[in-house]
Amino acid sequence: MDIENKEIIIAIDGYSSTGKSSFAKLIASRWGFLYLDSGALYRAVTLFALDNGLIEGENIDEARLSQALASLDVHFENHDGQTLTYMGSICVEKEIRTMRVSSMVSPIATLGFVRNFVNDRLHQLAVGSRVVMDGRDIGTTVFPQADVKIFMEADPKVRAERRMKELVEKGEKVCLSEILNNLSERDRIDSSRAISPLRKAEDALVLNNTYMTFEQQMDWLQAVLQERFGR
Ligand code: CDP
Repeated sequence: MDIENKEIIIAIDGYSSTGKSSFAKLIASRWGFLYLDSGALYRAVTLFALDNGLIEGENIDEARLSQALASLDVHFENHDGQTLTYMGSICVEKEIRTMRVSSMVSPIATLGFVRNFVNDRLHQLAVGSRVVMDGRDIGTTVFPQADVKIFMEADPKVRAERRMKELVEKGEKVCLSEILNNLSERDRIDSSRAISPLRKAEDALVLNNTYMTFEQQMDWLQAVLQERFGR
C-alpha cells in the first residue's frame, strides 16, 4: 500500500492504558510517522508541579504553575529510535510514568492554561509532518481535521494487568487494585471535566483491543487506510 508519501494525521484517543501509545509507536516506526504523545506533556507538567512544591495534597498552586509554564522547556528527543520526554537537558521519561505522577496528572489536566500550553506545543511540533498523536482530545479538539480518528477501548481488568506489567518491568512496586483505582479515577476525571473532556469524536472508529494482538491492530488499521487512501 502506498501510504508512505501521503500527508496523514492519525488521532488516537481513548481510556487510560488501552494501549494507545504502543499502537501509535508501532504505526510511527513501521510507516514513518512522527509520534507525538500528548499524555507525556501532561505528565511532565505534573512532575514539574510536584517537584517544585506546587501541589500540596489536593491543592494546586495555579498562579505559580501558570507563571512557570511560560518558561518551561518540555520537548521530545529521539534516541535509538525511541522518543523520550525531556525537561530542559534532563530525560524525565521514567519519572513521568510513575504512580506518583499518575495520581495527580488528571487534576492537572483539567486546568485550561495547562491544556493551552500542551496544545500549543503539539501544534508547533506537528507542523508539516505525517503525524500519529495519542491522548484524550486529539480527534475532538487538538486535530479535529485528522484524517483518521480512532477511539480505543479495552476491558478494565486487562488494561490494569497490562499497566501492572509495564510498571513492574520498570521496577516499581505496585498492586493491581491500586492501578485499577487509578485508571478508573483518571477516566472519571478525564470524562467529566469541563474543558475538552474525553469522548469519542462522532467520526472516530472504535477499536476494542481486549483480545487483539499488535499485529491484528495493524492489519485493522491497514485495511482502514487502504479503504480511505488506497491507490
Ligand atoms: O498512558 P495512559 O493512557 O495511562 O495516560 P496518558 O496518555 O499518559 O495520559 C495521562 C493523563 O493525561 C490522562 O489521564 C489525562 O488526564 C491527561 N491527558 C489529557 O487530558 N489529554 C490528552 N490529550 C492526553 C492526556
